[in-house]
Amino acid sequence: MNGHGHILVIDDDASQCELLELELHKRGFSIVTRPRAEDALELLEMEDFDVVVADIQLQGMSGLDLCRRIAHDRPDVAVVVITGFGSMETAIGAIRAGAYDFITKPFGIDALALALERAAKHRALRREVSRLRRVARESDRFGELLGTSPAMRKVYDLIERVSETDASVLVTGESGTGKELVARSIHDRSRRKHGPFVAINCAAVAENLLESELFGHVKGAFTDARQGRSGLFVEANGGTLFLDEIGELPLGLQPKLLRALQERKVRPVGGTSELGFDARLITATNKDLESAVEEGRFRGDLFYRIDVVHVPVPPLRARGTDVLLLAQHFAQSFSANFAKTVSGLSPAVGEKLLAYSWPGNVRELANAIERAVALTRSETLMVEDLPEKIRSSEKAPIAVSTFDPMELVPLEEIERRYILRVLETVRGNRTAAAHALGLDRKTLYRKLKSYGVGDDRSADAAHAPLHAEPAREGATRDAPAREGAARDAPAREGAARDAPARDGSSREGMPR
Ligand SMILES: Nc1ncnc2c1ncn2[C@@H]1O[C@H](COP(=O)(O)OP(=O)(O)OP(=O)(O)O)[C@@H](O)[C@H]1O
Ligand SMILES: [Mg+2]
Repeated sequence: MNGHGHILVIDDDASQCELLELELHKRGFSIVTRPRAEDALELLEMEDFDVVVADIQLQGMSGLDLCRRIAHDRPDVAVVVITGFGSMETAIGAIRAGAYDFITKPFGIDALALALERAAKHRALRREVSRLRRVARESDRFGELLGTSPAMRKVYDLIERVSETDASVLVTGESGTGKELVARSIHDRSRRKHGPFVAINCAAVAENLLESELFGHVKGAFTDARQGRSGLFVEANGGTLFLDEIGELPLGLQPKLLRALQERKVRPVGGTSELGFDARLITATNKDLESAVEEGRFRGDLFYRIDVVHVPVPPLRARGTDVLLLAQHFAQSFSANFAKTVSGLSPAVGEKLLAYSWPGNVRELANAIERAVALTRSETLMVEDLPEKIRSSEKAPIAVSTFDPMELVPLEEIERRYILRVLETVRGNRTAAAHALGLDRKTLYRKLKSYGVGDDRSADAAHAPLHAEPAREGATRDAPAREGAARDAPAREGAARDAPARDGSSREGMPR
């Protein structure tokens, strides 16, 4: 905006034009004046004005008609009309015709200046809002899923292909990556979209209840069973059954689930006969199920049944500038929820969001932006509005940088650093690391062993603090220290896994 705004004055009274030009210019506006309404329309096509001020009584096209035309052709330009003394009817007519404000003669220049400032501000806001609307264009999303990164396009492609089939789908990914959204998206695109989408979190229900939840029970099957119940498999008939956190399914229930899937029939608790069902199964987990199978915590036969098509959902840190797209989207929607006018992110915020590693993924981002929108005093989110740990994140240098241009590093050492870095990035998930590196798991294990990684069996893989502050370390520019952390973090992680077993080579999207 130029000063307080770029203003077009339409008035056939030349002396009035002169006066306005002089006085408004003093107050920081830049002014162009024209005598006829027709001139305004022409000029608006060539020049960008924030506000048009028009006398309502003009020769030729009336001020009122001008309001209508501008409202129609250039709704982004605000119009302020000047009406004669006491003609309230005309003023109301002007507002109806699309004017933003009116001012009655005689008026003080300050009153007009104030009205113009308001109008210019209003216009700036409207522009920002429509810019934000453009941010969430159709091309930036796939249904409810926002993102245009290659990593997400791969997911969209898999969703599209798998939606056409009835195959069982296993959705994997870190917590908060959008696994449930992916599951719903598959349902919404499948031929079952008009049927129910029934979801249950296997980790949230006690084992004995879970069995009857899933398979139903007959009347009197247990103390509280005053009535029979059909269970979720049957309730999902014609639709999709989503079993979230399938990795937490108790071992005792696993053979029952396997049997149901094989026979396409369920046996209600306490019942003797079986019921058929017609539901498509989608499961999700943030655990490394292959390792769970190797360690005997998850049945291999069930794993193969549910993992017909694998849809891995990438962590947010692997989605490039999607993080900004999502942040804009969340800023906009929380701003509306809180009746605020937050319209964007400062460039510094963008940098921080890109540098941070997002262990909690999209959910963490949504929470951070919600908090920032609630706290901020400005219309643009500032670094101060971000939580401390995001504010203090610095872009971590890539694993192979040495900080010493004279250091000539053997290729093997580069490989070692890179492998450890990848392992760190996938938070110790060796299946995922092998996948990312294009190695089979045996090879990865062998290499890790040669680096002295992977013998500590004491820690629980899922809880190792792998993110051992790597982002912060990047800031200290202390290469040996960083490496030390990378080396021992995966070691702790290496934890419970030993058996090389099945190689984790690419299987995503490959129906078996
Ligand atoms: N690509 C995306 N676009 C828009 N919103 C997203 C996207 N991914 C995730 N979200 C939002 O982030 C939140 C977390 O997503 P969701 O619950 O699907 O994650 P999840 O992987 O199932 O997490 P968890 O493992 O913790 O259950 C939801 O509010 C979801 O709407
Ligand atoms: Mg979930």
